[in-house]
Amino acid sequence: MSSAIDSVMTETRVFGPFERVAKDAHVSGMDAYRALYDEAADDLEGFWGRQARENLIWSKPFTKVLNESNAPFYTWFEDGELNVSANCLDRHLNTPVANKTAIIFEADDGQVTQVTYKELYERVCKLANALKSLGYKKGDRSIIYLPMSIEAVVAMQACARLGITHSVVFGGFSSKSLHERCMDVGATLVITADEQKRGGRNIPLKPAVDEALSMPGTEAVRHVIVYRRTGADIAWKEGRDLWLHDVLEGQPAECEPVAVGAEHPLFILYTSGSTGKPKGVQHSSGGYLLSALLTMRWTFDIKDSDIFWCTADVGWVTGHTYIAYGPLAAGATQIMFEGVPTYPTPARFWQMIERHKCTIFYTAPTAIRSLIKASESNDEHHPKKFDLTSLRIIGSVGEPINPEAWMWYFTHVGRERCPVVDTWWQTETGSHILTPLPGATPLKPGSCTLPLPGIEIGIIDESGEEVPPGKGGFLVIKKPWPSMIRTIWGDPERFKKSYFPPEAKGYYLAGDGAQRDKDGYVWIMGRIDDVLNVSGHRLGTMEVESALVAHELVAEAAVVGRPDSTTGEAVVAFVVLKRPVPQGDEAAEIARQLRDWVGKEIGPIAKPREIRFGENLPKTRSGKIMRRLLRVVAQNETITQDVSTLENPAILDQLTKSY
Ligand code: WTA
Repeated sequence: MSSAIDSVMTETRVFGPFERVAKDAHVSGMDAYRALYDEAADDLEGFWGRQARENLIWSKPFTKVLNESNAPFYTWFEDGELNVSANCLDRHLNTPVANKTAIIFEADDGQVTQVTYKELYERVCKLANALKSLGYKKGDRSIIYLPMSIEAVVAMQACARLGITHSVVFGGFSSKSLHERCMDVGATLVITADEQKRGGRNIPLKPAVDEALSMPGTEAVRHVIVYRRTGADIAWKEGRDLWLHDVLEGQPAECEPVAVGAEHPLFILYTSGSTGKPKGVQHSSGGYLLSALLTMRWTFDIKDSDIFWCTADVGWVTGHTYIAYGPLAAGATQIMFEGVPTYPTPARFWQMIERHKCTIFYTAPTAIRSLIKASESNDEHHPKKFDLTSLRIIGSVGEPINPEAWMWYFTHVGRERCPVVDTWWQTETGSHILTPLPGATPLKPGSCTLPLPGIEIGIIDESGEEVPPGKGGFLVIKKPWPSMIRTIWGDPERFKKSYFPPEAKGYYLAGDGAQRDKDGYVWIMGRIDDVLNVSGHRLGTMEVESALVAHELVAEAAVVGRPDSTTGEAVVAFVVLKRPVPQGDEAAEIARQLRDWVGKEIGPIAKPREIRFGENLPKTRSGKIMRRLLRVVAQNETITQDVSTLENPAILDQLTKSY
């Protein structure tokens, strides 16, 4: 960790302000940012209360802004009522936005479909009516397992319209993961597709649903609604399975939105923590939507004329806040992309920016780093070959962006004219927390800069004391904020333990290491818990370990991350088999089996990059696995640390060979 700290702290380059953006930005100049920040800091409740009244449409106005009486289970606007879908769609109906394009959908094969706000509204209403006629109502929970599609947004919005809490499961998760989530959330409805199309391939989805629902614990699911994406032959369970196009048939294009309390759970999204079981992060309706909308203005400076593009999948929080909810509440036109950045060529993103005249582009460092490599190996894929002059703001999310990747993004994609908004946030925070404001904040490559208005952060040490500038510590958020996680679904104790442990003294513990420089700019140093960040996806080491030890050949496993120049981190698994340490072809074959197994247990994103076999793992005499040592071994670096406490030093040699 220390070398990473040194490198960021010596960064002296500063860019901006960017006049082109600043001149008519929602927040223009640092004085405006400070004024807004101070207003919120001086009167937190007054600030958020005003924002909520001015920016959301309430069917019943709230009288209380923040309730701290049951901390850390904070509530916001708790006696107010609203409907999230009405706040994203109906609000635009009697305005010029009604006929504006809401979504420009580009399919994997390049085919483009567009819907206006009015059309989107009608599609959402039709599906909501269909769900209603099938008996679904406020308080029910649905699983959405759909590819990137207008249908996915329609499904989420239709659930929101009826007060059905959705839980979107990323299409890359296996049937086993789907089953776990389905059970944990207590779903009665699943919305899926026959297949998804990515990178020129058709990938089945419905079979995973069938498998998940054949396992015990999911009997409550009454219907599986299937969107026909490719027309593949799929198994069908009469009475349970329904085609989306059939249920929509004849449904009226108007559906009264169901008012829900501001605290009503809009969605539950599972994310990795430091134990084997993913956490169901529960989000509210009112507070969540407020921050989703405000950050569209603050961070992306969204304007009526913008063409916004967030490349995340709706299966992750970024796709929730910055595809399904934020842009719609803001009345923005957005691009939605079905495919992958490298198909048919690694120039796909640049072509799409050019084709659709994208003005705000928001992607992950992993994508940037892989496209840097691709454009270095073939000049035809370099962004300079494309007309990217429509861009005015470019953003980054999901993992720390290293200064070199930042500079390349700024120089070649943003052409030194577009501010880079490096947004730090989490599934749990619901929306951006630390980010530059494009018309205000001077930028330093690699820093997510400063907190948004209404957010007070701190960096503390193990005893909860604030650390001075230049010193690393744990990132905390000191005051509640509207879009914060409300609880872990069904496990309030775990919520308290994970995010408000006694050491954090009542602050929200983010799980990231960070430090501030002398200007107060924040530099994120990565996770402090056993959570890896692989290609911007969170992955618990314990999750992968549990999957590995569930295999019949495996006696014990330890998983660590190894820095990787493209994916940020790579999964390295150390495995002890119930048989002697395999060698050569046999080892390679077992490694292949174990990788496939992890793919089935969790999903392809969790497959270990490397597997190393040993007759044991390095342990202390008291039997604790020495993970720090394993991290060094995974990087093939010389061991400098003291191994005298190691019970079995000889096995270190075995663990150098990877498969
Ligand atoms: C990491 C994604 C550095 C961080 C929105 C956090 C970042 C985790 C950044 C959350 C950033 C996200 N700079 N690190 N700009 N953005 N992270 O829940 O470790 O999938 O805790 O939410 O990603 O990942 P999650």
